Amino acid sequence: MQISTTVSDHPVDDARLAEIFANPGFGTYFTDHMLTVEWTPDAGWHAARIEPYAPLSIDPAAAVLHYAQEIFEGMKAYRHPDGSVWSFRPEANAARMARSAERLALPVLPEDEFVEYVDALVRADERWVPTSEGANEKSLYLRPFMFASETFLGVRPSQHVTFMVIASPVGSYFKGGVKPVTIWLTEQYSRAGRGGMGAAKTGGNYAASLVAQQEASAHGCDQVVFLDSTEQKYVEELGGMNLYFVHADGRIVTPATGTILEGITRASIITLAEKMGYTVEERKFSIDEWKDGVASGEITEIFACGTAAVVTPVGELRWDGGSLPSAPVGEVAMELRKQLVDIQYGRADDGHGWMHKIC
Ligand code: PLP
Ligand code: COI
Repeated sequence: MQISTTVSDHPVDDARLAEIFANPGFGTYFTDHMLTVEWTPDAGWHAARIEPYAPLSIDPAAAVLHYAQEIFEGMKAYRHPDGSVWSFRPEANAARMARSAERLALPVLPEDEFVEYVDALVRADERWVPTSEGANEKSLYLRPFMFASETFLGVRPSQHVTFMVIASPVGSYFKGGVKPVTIWLTEQYSRAGRGGMGAAKTGGNYAASLVAQQEASAHGCDQVVFLDSTEQKYVEELGGMNLYFVHADGRIVTPATGTILEGITRASIITLAEKMGYTVEERKFSIDEWKDGVASGEITEIFACGTAAVVTPVGELRWDGGSLPSAPVGEVAMELRKQLVDIQYGRADDGHGWMHKIC
């Protein structure tokens, strides 16, 4: 695989980088380089290159701007105590991007090439991977994405596609670190429907979530939870995180509906929880089960997880005309969180072959 490299002649200096690392926020600052690969039906994937990070010049008739044929991934590079840099289950992101590509009629980027491209950008911008001090979990967030770059307004799969990787040093996704997030139950809006794109990581799903997220904010909530669009009965997920319900009898239930994004954190938490002796049920989980379970004490903890948000306790649930107090915020979420981040940051043995060394 050939990747041509043009090194930036204006990399951020060390003093500015230290300032950024001190307060990176989420998705605000970007590294010195970006990676681009092009696809056409005749040439396949070609013209892979790393170049200085810069705005794109895009034709106003590019298909993505009109028909949203776009997919993305979210993953992180972690610096370990010995200075080495690792990613977490990148082949799982590659596989999910391939599934998203199939749903959006985009060309599949072979999984080994996906991993190699992501690694190449991280190596080029290695000094942008922050060290993590104590509870202050910092990492380099990686955003691979693919979009319809053909200049054409006909509605059909694009005949020119661009794959890119950009990277952004990040701290915690929620301001204030790990504390319970308040959830708004939207009864008006759905995120995904049967036969739709709910299981794909595509921009349209996030666009669909924004008005509901605005509604959540207007009601003083941090995040919105979506129900299934057919019966308005089954819990799906938050705008950018999967959900877990811990029961007093040692069961942990996580929604599976066919219309949620199947998180890589979600899959990892299932493995870790089963190893800790919990029984994990992946199944439909109704909003009544949530409300009744908290009221009766049968549900002892609720938490959400995702790459950006890691593991975050869920607090109060509010809806139009009612609310439900937090399930007690608990040890299970915090223990799972610790096990996961200890593996990611190289503080615990990775007994699962999850970590991938980049440099
Ligand atoms: N659900 C949605 C809608 C998401 O955007 C994300 C974040 O990527 C997740 C779930 C969690 O997925 P992952 O754990 O792979 O980051
Ligand atoms: C992630 O966790 O990587 C996400 O994509 C969630 C959000 C930032 C869209």
